[in-house]
Amino acid sequence: MRILGINETTHDAAVCVVEDGKILFAAHAERYSKKKNDWFTNMAILDEALSYGVPDQIAYYEDHWLKKYRIFRHGGFGGQTPFYRSHPRLKNIPTYVSFHHHSHAAAGYYTSPFDDAVVVVLDAIGEFTTSSIWLGEGDSLKQVERWKYPFSFGLFYSAFTDLIGLKPNEEEYIMMGMAAYGDPEIYYERVSKYFPSVYKQTRNFHRGISDWGQEITETDRFHIAAAVQKVYEDRLWDFVYIARQKYSSSNLVFMGGCALNSKANTLLLDIFPNVWIMPNPGDAGSALGAAASAMEKKLDWQTPYLGTEIPGEYPVDKIIDALTKDKIAPVASGKAEYGPRALGNRSILADPRDPDIKDKVNMIKQRELFRPFAPVILEEYASEWFEMDYSSPYMQFTPRCLKPDVIPSVVHADGTSRVQTVNKQQHPGLYEVLTRWHALTGVPVLLNTSLNIKGQPMLNDEQDIKDWEKYYKKGIIR
Ligand SMILES: [Fe+2]
Repeated sequence: MRILGINETTHDAAVCVVEDGKILFAAHAERYSKKKNDWFTNMAILDEALSYGVPDQIAYYEDHWLKKYRIFRHGGFGGQTPFYRSHPRLKNIPTYVSFHHHSHAAAGYYTSPFDDAVVVVLDAIGEFTTSSIWLGEGDSLKQVERWKYPFSFGLFYSAFTDLIGLKPNEEEYIMMGMAAYGDPEIYYERVSKYFPSVYKQTRNFHRGISDWGQEITETDRFHIAAAVQKVYEDRLWDFVYIARQKYSSSNLVFMGGCALNSKANTLLLDIFPNVWIMPNPGDAGSALGAAASAMEKKLDWQTPYLGTEIPGEYPVDKIIDALTKDKIAPVASGKAEYGPRALGNRSILADPRDPDIKDKVNMIKQRELFRPFAPVILEEYASEWFEMDYSSPYMQFTPRCLKPDVIPSVVHADGTSRVQTVNKQQHPGLYEVLTRWHALTGVPVLLNTSLNIKGQPMLNDEQDIKDWEKYYKKGIIR
């Protein structure tokens, strides 16, 4: 049984192919159309998916008509006709429809290493559901609680993203980064009035924050970001803590766009001993979630490297050479990552010891200079360098750095780092790079950031490399 999973008509369209529980392909539409956060699939990604064979079934990630009805009644965006329906080879193939939160829950639980779990899904909004709790046991996944629009953790965060002049539904991650530079106490009480307790909000955040009533200075933007992050963390803590008390499993699966907030995710490790966040927890991961919910079976999750392949061995020698000579090594090799983070195959790697490297890489990427960078570290050294006793292969947690003076360019203003841990089985090539870097420098850490320019998707294929090389003289290692 071959299933084509699709998510589109919202931010970040994606496609996957699953055959008898094995994930053959999963990718983001934006990396083919070159439109960041593209809402729609396109011929190129669908054709690549079809190269794995014509599917027996299509699985779509939400109830399109129910969502249209919600938009008709309450406003919001989306609801257009999905592009995949216009592909000539996808006509007359039966379509299974999974509800929006069911797709999130299935993407998380069916890829998790657990035989049972409490599954928490928090996002802006699906059809009507905005927050839900599910219980997974064996192959069974059942919803046990749900909260409906307008109550929403995600809409709360997005409304304030908009208030401070960023793009809602896209730039929440920038607000999260800004939070480290502000003082949360200055606006905590004020922001908290909008979301006073765990299940209570005082307004419909879909309509934005229209009554802030005060001019927002550049400094205020950072203080507001800090307060919003703190209020979000406090309510999230309560929400997940209550779930821990209510249900017997000690395993948490956390999914939905809110699970991209790595700073808040870190708190959940104090509530549940075991936490799984699939590396693509937002809507793009729901292409896989829809396919999983159609199958109702655990998937054979092995790796997030599931997209377009740039063939060849991982270029370990060339990377080490570039790092020792130039301190910066842009790499495109192997299959592209499924998820928002570059995990070594479409990455810029750099020397984290150099305090100026952050500005240099930010300039290459044309990003705001305050934006932090993340470290990648050999898994066996993680607890020596960061306050962590767990692995973090997908950059989803932000432990405190224990040696910030040695690797200043990968430590955020609040002393934490969004760590990626690597072992030999996860990525033998990157593991080898880090092992050799460690032998050369005594530091088992590199800076790792996505291979893209701000506002553009990550590089995907050979053509993208050629286009990049016109701009960046040194060329890309592959
Ligand atoms: Fe969602």
